[in-house]
Amino acid sequence: MNVKDFYENWNLSNIPKYAKLLMNFEEELIFDIISNLDEFDKIKNKKDALILDCGCGFGSFYNLTKDSNTIYLDISLNLLKKFNIKTNKICGDILNLPFKDKSFDLILCIDVLEHVDYKKALSEIKRVLKNNGVCIVVVVNKNSIINEELFTDWKIHHQPLGIEDFGVEGFYITYWKTFYFVHPIFKILPTKILEKFLNFFKKVDNKLGNTKMFKNKGQFLICVFKVR
Ligand SMILES: C[S@@+](CC[C@H](N)C(=O)[O-])C[C@H]1O[C@@H](n2cnc3c(N)ncnc32)[C@H](O)[C@@H]1O
Repeated sequence: MNVKDFYENWNLSNIPKYAKLLMNFEEELIFDIISNLDEFDKIKNKKDALILDCGCGFGSFYNLTKDSNTIYLDISLNLLKKFNIKTNKICGDILNLPFKDKSFDLILCIDVLEHVDYKKALSEIKRVLKNNGVCIVVVVNKNSIINEELFTDWKIHHQPLGIEDFGVEGFYITYWKTFYFVHPIFKILPTKILEKFLNFFKKVDNKLGNTKMFKNKGQFLICVFKVR
């Protein structure tokens, strides 16, 4: 199935409870990491800054950008319809962004690049970022010690990437880390216990991602780029 068709038919209510808990866990980790980034904070608080949430889905990360001037773009009309805001939503392709060069101060691209030609997507992102603009990318990490089927067994094009794939001309990396160290075995826990376990594991996860031994080994990679 191609990526667009997959997301056009995607429905959160078909996802089992344990998978929703794990997805929420991933989202919470991303939310915490991004909200604590200096680069993010500076731009978010700049009055006239323009932000793009590129591949926004149904708006899981809306709370990060809702108080800024933000445009939300996704290729799936189905997901955009499920995203409960009235304005600033655009149906478009990351490989051919419908914006002028140097339009944005900040672009978020969360769990999208593994689905597309990531080099082409990054060159589009670079094109529409202003000089000194910042791009924050999250992808499935190909160097992870965990192969969590929940995120890798999708029946669509889904190519994990590693930090070594991000030597992109015109960008320099200012920050990266990997996160999400939950072993798939915990899926067998009853959901109430899984929920408690994940609450407890949040701090552990954060610490593991900061250790030398596991720095590159989490299931997801977050990378911050700046335009040269
Ligand atoms: C795993 S979801 C992530 C959604 C959202 N960023 C989040 O983290 O909740 C991947 C998203 O990428 C979008 N997507 C896939 N290919 C795309 C493309 N070529 N252009 C724009 N969006 C695309 C999908 O429609 C879907 O919303």
